[in-house]
Amino acid sequence: MRALSLLCVVVGLWGSGLSNRNCPDLIVDSCHCSAERSKELSRQHVRVKVVCDDVDLMDTLQPSFVPNTTVSLNLSNNKISLLRNGSFYGLAALEKLDLKNNLISTVEPGAFRGLLALRRLDLSNNRIGCLSPEMFLDLGSLSKLNLSGNIFSTLTVGLFTHLVALRVLHFHTETLFCDCQLKWLLLWARSNSVRIANDTVCVFPTHLHGLEFRNLREQQLRCDGPLEMPLFQLIPSQRQLVFRGDRLPLQCTASYVDPSVELWWRHNGHVVATHEDRGVYVEETLLHDCCLLTSEVILSNIDVGIAGIWECLVTSSRGNTSQQMEIVVLETSAPYCPTDRVTNNKGDFRWPKTLAGILAFLPCAPATFGSAPHPSGSAPNPSSQREKKAWRRCDRAGRWAEEDYTQCPYASELTRVLHELTQITINTTNAQPLGQQLVAFTSRAAHFTDVMDVIFVTHLVERLTRLVEKRRDLGDYISDIASNMMLVEEHILWMAQNEARACTRIVQCVERIADLALTGDNQVISKVSANIALEAFLIHPSNFLGLSCTALQRPPSSAPSPLPDSHSHTDKGMGRERDAVGESLLNFKCHTVNNSGSPASQLSKMTNTTSTDERHCASADGGESAQLT
Ligand SMILES: *[C@@H]1O[C@H](CO)[C@@H](O)[C@H](O)[C@H]1NC(C)=O
Ligand SMILES: *[C@@H]1O[C@H](CO)[C@@H](O)[C@H](O)[C@H]1NC(C)=O
Ligand SMILES: *[C@@H]1O[C@H](CO)[C@@H](O)[C@H](O)[C@H]1NC(C)=O
Ligand SMILES: *[C@@H]1O[C@H](CO)[C@@H](O)[C@H](O)[C@H]1NC(C)=O
Ligand SMILES: *[C@@H]1O[C@H](CO)[C@@H](O)[C@H](O)[C@H]1NC(C)=O
Ligand SMILES: *[C@@H]1O[C@H](CO)[C@@H](O)[C@H](O)[C@H]1NC(C)=O
Ligand SMILES: *[C@@H]1O[C@H](CO)[C@@H](O)[C@H](O)[C@H]1NC(C)=O
Ligand SMILES: *[C@@H]1O[C@H](CO)[C@@H](O)[C@H](O)[C@H]1NC(C)=O
Ligand SMILES: *[C@@H]1O[C@H](CO)[C@@H](O)[C@H](O)[C@H]1NC(C)=O
Repeated sequence: MRALSLLCVVVGLWGSGLSNRNCPDLIVDSCHCSAERSKELSRQHVRVKVVCDDVDLMDTLQPSFVPNTTVSLNLSNNKISLLRNGSFYGLAALEKLDLKNNLISTVEPGAFRGLLALRRLDLSNNRIGCLSPEMFLDLGSLSKLNLSGNIFSTLTVGLFTHLVALRVLHFHTETLFCDCQLKWLLLWARSNSVRIANDTVCVFPTHLHGLEFRNLREQQLRCDGPLEMPLFQLIPSQRQLVFRGDRLPLQCTASYVDPSVELWWRHNGHVVATHEDRGVYVEETLLHDCCLLTSEVILSNIDVGIAGIWECLVTSSRGNTSQQMEIVVLETSAPYCPTDRVTNNKGDFRWPKTLAGILAFLPCAPATFGSAPHPSGSAPNPSSQREKKAWRRCDRAGRWAEEDYTQCPYASELTRVLHELTQITINTTNAQPLGQQLVAFTSRAAHFTDVMDVIFVTHLVERLTRLVEKRRDLGDYISDIASNMMLVEEHILWMAQNEARACTRIVQCVERIADLALTGDNQVISKVSANIALEAFLIHPSNFLGLSCTALQRPPSSAPSPLPDSHSHTDKGMGRERDAVGESLLNFKCHTVNNSGSPASQLSKMTNTTSTDERHCASADGGESAQLT
């Protein structure tokens, strides 16, 4: 093995054969040697620096080929995976050794044997998980050690016993677990004046995340917390569709956060053990790199009995956790759901032929976001559109069953914008621009095609109405919006009413405005918009008991004409209305007025003319006037 990998280096890097003058024996000519000569006590000193950076080395250099006067050896950015006992033996003058950014996973005991003068060692960004004190034999002069960027999450007690001159230590990793197992290091560093670099910060447990290790207090390093796993994965993680007779291995990997961690398998809640006659083999749990546990279940010769939920369970003294996936066993003659096309307000979905028992997914149709200004000033978050999907289940019998498009944005830009508006918090600051915007949107109400448009507007109108007490001017917007909504096509309104009582709720909002408008000093209201005329006079109960009359007038033309200026709806005098009785008077109603009760309740009685229209929300395309006289 050793000869073989060395051979690779030789073959791969054999160059022109011209030896570097400073390194006569070095056969790897992509390495650079430089030498400094200095006179010290009349003896000539040569200080050689060897740099073999980023030259695809698979192995360390044979020490006998490197001048024994080398003081700095730089092997960074290569593909070295193993440091053997004595890998650098003979380089007794070496002071700096840089091995960062390699693939080192194994460091044998005695790897740095003979490096008696070594002062700096950089092992950062490798794959070292197992560390032992014997790794550092002979490094009695080492003052700076960088172990950052490896895969360990903890360091074993007494690891640095041989490093008697150590002054600075880096050991930050992506899985560094600051718990009771590192308490010794904190105490050892303090009593030996070793500085733990400030880039060494905790990653786990979550409550210590980002804290510098050296600043922790001893009591913070505890092992009683809830179980946290730096790494825990089940492969495959997604549901698997397998045919009878197939073979499927399941592999589970979990961090070995402490020796109490164990892996188990469960199938539909029952612990799994090897069952040769059923073709289920549970392999022995293995510890890799001192920090990962792996366990494998091999399902050979699958039959329907293995269908269901498979779970990898971790138990430990700190708690348990699990990951699961589903196996669906397909009969070879399984039925299919046919291809199907669904068009709805979320777009056009073409469902492919799908096997029975399967949940099919389709990405939402790509939507280009409208540029509607947001009253809140906040832009929609584009990243939230990522990965949105619709799903549909094909049942066991091969029929399309439940489906869900809720994650998808509305296909119509108007619907999408209205939907976004419903997501913002309306307060007195943004209510006025929102009201304005809604008046503008609903001016196109005749072209609304989606029930959701009506429902969203209803929702927004209700929320605006709640603010009318604080901002009176909102009343005008609401009555304009309600008026505009009467232009929506009748069957859409009808559906919105059925689904969400949308019409009733809008009318209630209009009533509420009238109610509020009549309180306080205000004794008269008159709000006239295209399709709603709201007129009210306050009459003192003490001096009135009689008839109240309402006239509804349809303009002569019976053709639908939603343009506001085509109506007249300001008739106030009864005389004039009587004059108009002819063909245009649609309805004329009088009631006795009960003088008890608040003006507001009387008004709401009168708005019954509107309420009767709830059933189809729009007045019969004519003007409508409510009067209390
Ligand atoms: C270095 O090697 C030379 C021979 O190549 C030897 O004479 C010398 O003693 C060695 N020096 C050390 C410090 O090992
Ligand atoms: C080794 O080489 C790399 C890349 O050129 C450089 O970043 C690093 O500082 C060198 N190491 C030493 C100890 O000089
Ligand atoms: C390393 O190798 C040397 C020489 O072969 C041997 O004496 C020593 O015991 C080995 N060290 C370890 C820790 O295996
Ligand atoms: C130690 O290694 C880490 C990871 O490569 C690096 O971020 C850090 O700067 C190194 N520290 C020193 C002092 O070289
Ligand atoms: C960490 O230490 C370095 C020098 O060792 C210093 O430049 C840097 O400011 C320190 N960072 C923090 C956050 O203390
Ligand atoms: C963890 O699992 C073991 C074995 O299944 C069980 O005895 C123990 O009660 C569980 N602990 C917790 C905290 O759920
Ligand atoms: C209204 O909401 C916006 C953003 O949500 C906020 O900036 C503003 O201060 C709020 N105004 C009031 C009066 O609460
Ligand atoms: C008037 O209303 C009150 C309560 O609203 C009721 O008790 C009374 O019977 C009503 N009178 C008439 C004449 O309807
Ligand atoms: C108003 O309408 C409600 C139900 O729509 C009805 O019960 C009530 O009698 C009506 N009132 C008047 C004054 O028409």
